[in-house]
Amino acid sequence: MSDRIPIILDVDTGTDDALALAYAVRSPRIDLVAATTVAGNVSVEKTTANTLAVLDWLGAESVPVHRGASRPLVQPHRDAIYFHDEGGLGGARLPASRRSVGADRGPAAVIRLAFQRPGELTLVMLGPLTNLAIALNVEPRLADWLRAVVVMAGAYTVPGNTTPAAEFNVLVDPEAAQQVFAAPFRDLVAVGLDVTERVALTRDDWDAVNPGSSLPPPAALLAEVGKFAFSALSRDQFSLHDPLSVAVAADPSLIQTENVTIEVEPVEPERGRTRIVGPGSVRVATSVDAERALHDFRSTLELPTAGRRGLESGTE
Ligand code: RIB
Ligand code: CA
Repeated sequence: MSDRIPIILDVDTGTDDALALAYAVRSPRIDLVAATTVAGNVSVEKTTANTLAVLDWLGAESVPVHRGASRPLVQPHRDAIYFHDEGGLGGARLPASRRSVGADRGPAAVIRLAFQRPGELTLVMLGPLTNLAIALNVEPRLADWLRAVVVMAGAYTVPGNTTPAAEFNVLVDPEAAQQVFAAPFRDLVAVGLDVTERVALTRDDWDAVNPGSSLPPPAALLAEVGKFAFSALSRDQFSLHDPLSVAVAADPSLIQTENVTIEVEPVEPERGRTRIVGPGSVRVATSVDAERALHDFRSTLELPTAGRRGLESGTE
């Protein structure tokens, strides 16, 4: 376990969050210490129940889940059921978990764990940045206690995915994002749509896991959470926003970065736009080895190779 990097995942599970949880649980390079949940793709009640159900589905019942913020810092919560479906798991029917959430709430759990393991933990943010902003507010020393922070947040040289200006995680809580981008972390990496939209599963990947029977749990999870996107919405691609961000935490060589200062637009009509305003300490991803990231994801989740399902899984 010692050569694995210990990470905390903050999630708004969510279909791609579910796949990111599967990647973290199955990766030989990661020790998933805990998950914290936030209102994002769906309500925090649903993101919490979904996170518990996904971890139990994967046999990771030992990973504690701590419920976090129920709404953004300032504006009302807005969800993404148009893409993740009402329940947040793309129509997946997973057995409900019978276990309880952890005793302390998301921000408090992050502070406690980082205090107990100073300089060791990497925090990967896969939803709106509300929990981290709250944690920094009540414990500013958190910025130094965390070894690194990776945020799936923003769109720097490409259009947004929720409005033309804004990426969803930033748009839901721009005030939180601004506070996170300004905090003095030891290492803060921003993984935006510029790179995540270049790492996507295809309809061939979807076809290769259907029907979902006789697949290992992580591959079967894709057969479950991909239903809404690939069937109901007839999408031909499924961007791995969150799984890529977790992979980057374990293998920073997947991306190239530039050291910048990021500012977040707080007011309409471009509320949530993320602007690079000069040099600084945030490492924003500028390119990605998409082929290697996809191969790593497919093999970690034991996805059948498109077109040869059943003959082999996980390798191309
Ligand atoms: O913009 C994509 C991000 O917003 C992903 O993390 C997705 O799960 C949603 O949270
Ligand atoms: Ca997410």
